[in-house]
Amino acid sequence: MKILVTGSDGQLGSDLVPLLAREGHDAAGADITGSGASSLDITDREKTISSVVRLRPEVIINCAAYTAVDRAEKEIDAALAVNRDGPANLADAAGEIQALLIHISTDFVFNGSRNLPYDESQAADPLGVYGKTKLLGEQEVAKRLPGHIIVRTSWLYGTHGHNFVKTILRHAGEREALRVVYDQAGTPTSSFDLAGALTVMVNRYASGSAPYGTYHYSNEGVASWYDFAVRIIEGAGRLGAKLRCARVEPILTGEYPTPAKRPAYSVLDKKKVKETFGVSIPHWQDSLEKTLNELYGGGKVA
Ligand SMILES: NC(=O)c1ccc[n+]([C@@H]2O[C@H](COP(=O)([O-])OP(=O)(O)OC[C@H]3O[C@@H](n4cnc5c(N)ncnc54)[C@H](OP(=O)(O)O)[C@@H]3O)[C@@H](O)[C@H]2O)c1
Repeated sequence: MKILVTGSDGQLGSDLVPLLAREGHDAAGADITGSGASSLDITDREKTISSVVRLRPEVIINCAAYTAVDRAEKEIDAALAVNRDGPANLADAAGEIQALLIHISTDFVFNGSRNLPYDESQAADPLGVYGKTKLLGEQEVAKRLPGHIIVRTSWLYGTHGHNFVKTILRHAGEREALRVVYDQAGTPTSSFDLAGALTVMVNRYASGSAPYGTYHYSNEGVASWYDFAVRIIEGAGRLGAKLRCARVEPILTGEYPTPAKRPAYSVLDKKKVKETFGVSIPHWQDSLEKTLNELYGGGKVA
């Protein structure tokens, strides 16, 4: 199928475009930082619609987002433009050419007070600007385009771009001890695994079925940021990384204040995506190990 991936230079987009191509799809990437035909700012409504109409993809996968959770608390207009207006523009563009829009969203649409995994029927109630703008984006897509799939994911990391894994590795290389919060629980998710699940969705659509709607996808298991950090350091150590850090201390969220409030518990229930698409989901610890292997094997992290 002919597929346009927006935000293709980000963590998820960087894994997704080559994976789609490997599956035999004609996948084109576009990003705000791209050049020439690969340059697309999804907040530019006219250009977004004209580019999509010209390219005529059968599927658009929107990985573009304003993802700076803390900065969003101050840069509200910038976050709204990318996370609400961008998806609205893409939904209208997809509508013009009857393309499927797969839009990526987040666990941060939930308030995190439930303490049980969130399924797709649970009411959203975001705590911060990032989550609020992402929820508005979902609503714009749902309102404008019946033929859509929204995929909410959580704690995304991969070999490309900035993420928690790389931040912990950097700090662990510089400091003897790290302090990491242990009273926020969620599931780390490999961008490569999510790209795989999105590819399954595209293949299903290509075979003639159209399971539109909202789906939750993360890796399996539950962790605190502290658990995640400990695993990252242990795993990197096993691979021979030279780290100064000998101690990770669990701290409370209150001891590490951030501008944006985050959900205390944002584990996603994956029953619907597993039953609908038959995807088997790896445990976060196994996927982390694979990513660390790639980072060190590929020499991408010093
Ligand atoms: N990262 C997480 O932990 C996480 C968790 C849950 C859900 N998600 C969701 O998963 C999706 C993918 O996230 P990610 O981590 O891959 O994000 P990312 O690494 O920040 O990538 C997003 C990409 O979109 C680009 N972009 C920003 N504004 C744009 C615009 N106006 N037009 C076109 N491209 C634009 C960014 O460029 P610049 O870098 O130049 O801004 C970047 O290349 C997003 O929808 C995100 O909300 C992420």
